[in-house]
Amino acid sequence: MFGKKKEIPQIDKQQLELIQNAQRRIKQKKRLYIHFVIFLIGSGFLILANLVFGIGKDMTPFGVDWFVYAIFIWLFLLLYHTFNVFITHKFMGKDWEQKQLDKLISKQQERIDRLKEKAHNTQAEEMESENTSEVKKKAELTIIVAAGENNAIGKDNTLLWHLRDDLKRFKTLTSGHHIIMGRKTFESFHKPLPNRTHVVITRQNNYKVPEGVIVVNSLEEAIKIVQNDAQPFIIGGGKIYKQAMALAHKIELTRVHETFEADTFFPKINTAIWKETNKTFHNKDVDHEHAFSFVTYLKNNPSI
Ligand SMILES: NC(=O)c1ccc[n+]([C@@H]2O[C@H](COP(=O)([O-])OP(=O)(O)OC[C@H]3O[C@@H](n4cnc5c(N)ncnc54)[C@H](OP(=O)(O)O)[C@@H]3O)[C@@H](O)[C@H]2O)c1
Repeated sequence: MFGKKKEIPQIDKQQLELIQNAQRRIKQKKRLYIHFVIFLIGSGFLILANLVFGIGKDMTPFGVDWFVYAIFIWLFLLLYHTFNVFITHKFMGKDWEQKQLDKLISKQQERIDRLKEKAHNTQAEEMESENTSEVKKKAELTIIVAAGENNAIGKDNTLLWHLRDDLKRFKTLTSGHHIIMGRKTFESFHKPLPNRTHVVITRQNNYKVPEGVIVVNSLEEAIKIVQNDAQPFIIGGGKIYKQAMALAHKIELTRVHETFEADTFFPKINTAIWKETNKTFHNKDVDHEHAFSFVTYLKNNPSI
């Protein structure tokens, strides 16, 4: 009861069949060998019975002693037995051999099919990844943001300034493209911006939006959706910018030359990763309460 459990040998059906066949084969040969030995002894005994003890001395059909007939008949039976063992049932018969061969062929075919399928899938995956990287190469995922000197971008879900030329530039750059944003930034608009496809990221499952607005559950999903756009934009806010820094290729920054009190900030731009490629300064005037600069950054190594 408490002893070690007896291990049951794990032999599959085919192995078992092979073992049983081998056992039967050994028995067959053993029987033939015994038959042969009995034949030798028996034949000697028949000769002895006739020649020494004179049993059936007068039985000589066609002038030949009866024991010669008896030995020949027995020899014929022995040959028939031998024929049976080595020819008729040669390794369990032709049917068995054919069955084993068929099994082997079907197993090999299965393996070939599996390998073919694997090769096909790998090829398809490679093609897909080639296509994806082609789209990635073409698409320039661009972050567009306006940030103060202290990287402040918003407070109480509103912007911190009103800069006419900045809004104009935002409109010019983003028009006709996809704009990806967090749910809070989307809610900071009174209504969707014209001539742009809005992609809103939220963890909510039944988030309701006006017709034409796309809702997704992650930034990665949003990027997949905008793959056919040559220049999709990430337009904020703080949470989304933070996640997008690793994935974006370009930053269009409006640097507002002032420090602001805020609750939302843009991540610090790492100049080891981002290279400034263009900068235009605008002084403050009647339409612009703060001085600002349009700065373009490109990622040194887009794979980072
Ligand atoms: N200066 C600028 O250029 C600029 C631009 C844009 C926005 N802003 C300002 O930024 C502020 C808003 O930024 P914020 O950081 O508070 O909010 P946000 O980034 O606009 O949105 C945050 C929301 O996005 C969703 N979200 C974020 N990461 C997600 C993820 N990985 N998967 C699924 N959903 C995700 C969540 O929505 P749920 O809670 O629904 O799940 C989260 O609450 C406002 O003040 C706005 O005015 C400034």
